[in-house]
Amino acid sequence: MSNGTQREQWGTKLGFILACAGSAVGLGNIWRFPYITGQYGGAAFVLVYVVLVFVIGFSVMLAEMAIGRNAQLNAVGSFRKIKGGMWPIVGWMGVIAGFIILSYYGVIAGWTMAYVLKSFTGLMQADAGAEFGAFVTNLPQVVAWQALFMAITIYIVYKGIGGGIEKYCRVLMPALFLLLLVLIVRSITLPGAGAGINFYLKPDFSKLTGGALGAALGQAFFSLSLGMGCIITYGSYLGKKETLPGAAIQVCFLDTLVAFLAGLVIFPAVFAFGVEPGAGPGLTFITLPNVFGQMPGGAIWSALFFVLLFVAALTSAISLLEVVSAYFIDEIKWSRQKASMVMGIVIFLMGIPSAMGVAGVIPKLAGRDFLDSADFLASNVLLPLGGLFIALFVGWFWTEGAKQEVENNGTVPFGLYTAWLWVCRVVAPIAIAYIFITGLKW
Ligand code: TRP
Repeated sequence: MSNGTQREQWGTKLGFILACAGSAVGLGNIWRFPYITGQYGGAAFVLVYVVLVFVIGFSVMLAEMAIGRNAQLNAVGSFRKIKGGMWPIVGWMGVIAGFIILSYYGVIAGWTMAYVLKSFTGLMQADAGAEFGAFVTNLPQVVAWQALFMAITIYIVYKGIGGGIEKYCRVLMPALFLLLLVLIVRSITLPGAGAGINFYLKPDFSKLTGGALGAALGQAFFSLSLGMGCIITYGSYLGKKETLPGAAIQVCFLDTLVAFLAGLVIFPAVFAFGVEPGAGPGLTFITLPNVFGQMPGGAIWSALFFVLLFVAALTSAISLLEVVSAYFIDEIKWSRQKASMVMGIVIFLMGIPSAMGVAGVIPKLAGRDFLDSADFLASNVLLPLGGLFIALFVGWFWTEGAKQEVENNGTVPFGLYTAWLWVCRVVAPIAIAYIFITGLKW
């Protein structure tokens, strides 16, 4: 809301947690986590990932919640209001990352919608790998689905914070969870699933490289929606009475659980069907249709899965567009309607090169297509950098204010405060900087 009017708020604390979880749980968990894990060696990567989530991810998430809730403004405005100086640049970086991430996120989310229909129109009988290849090279089709997805995203952000997103997440997140459990049972009972379970759960640390550490950190930031002011923005709609640390830990836990379960669906099936685990972005779209094709009523399961993947993607896309829109609403004084429509369309257009790259219409850059490059720039560069500055901000530059904010002005002591402070001060910055410098392999 612009000045003068009451800022919109979440209905309940649970609503806030579910909206944050809705933002966090998305393509990052079900599509990105398994293929990144596949590329960087499996179980050892998973272990490193979990440690990074609960030490660094949690700390940065709490820091973002504190900043947003304190300032009650968008990512740029929050830094300006609390400290000013150069700090708003961190918010700016976040808004730019929001543009970049949503641009290609919309393309992949469009695939999930197309796959709902495809479940009934031949996907179950076809060679899923060939089908995927044929689909993504059909550029007009891919862009049409992307446009539809972005239109739905715009519509919801246009409607505001309201009860809609909260209610939505409350029903659909548990549904996603239940379906994952069913699919796990199907996947781990496939003949040949054991090799996949070993790959996913038996760590082989010789496979870890500096690149893997960087990828794990990038994945943690991406999956938790951190480092670009998304949680700052959502925190800004939270009332002053609620407590933050519990919310942060619950969001981290839910997000990691869903990613972990998604891996339990994908890897047994990958090995059972002899797909290459490092196959990259196509992994989910090739492996799962293979699994569904083997099941009685496979088309229904497949459609259901892609509907839920679409929903997970939608609640995340909303949060990305909300970061960008909140900036234009608070800072440029645009109406919510104008901000969401204009920026949604700009982001849609920015996503077209990603679709073109996957279709092979535009060439690769150093072995990465456009989508991969945009993802790499956002996840492995902008998000960790954003996280680094956010940690330094609360650790050194806004220490007392942050303490007051996470402890609700001393009324709700936070048992791990000192640990959190030192993670923000030293552990997170050093870890991020180290991984960033040593692991940044284009
Ligand atoms: N976390 C989402 C996912 O896992 C994607 C996402 C939404 C995101 N908002 C974000 C990533 C903000 C980084 C920053 O799919």
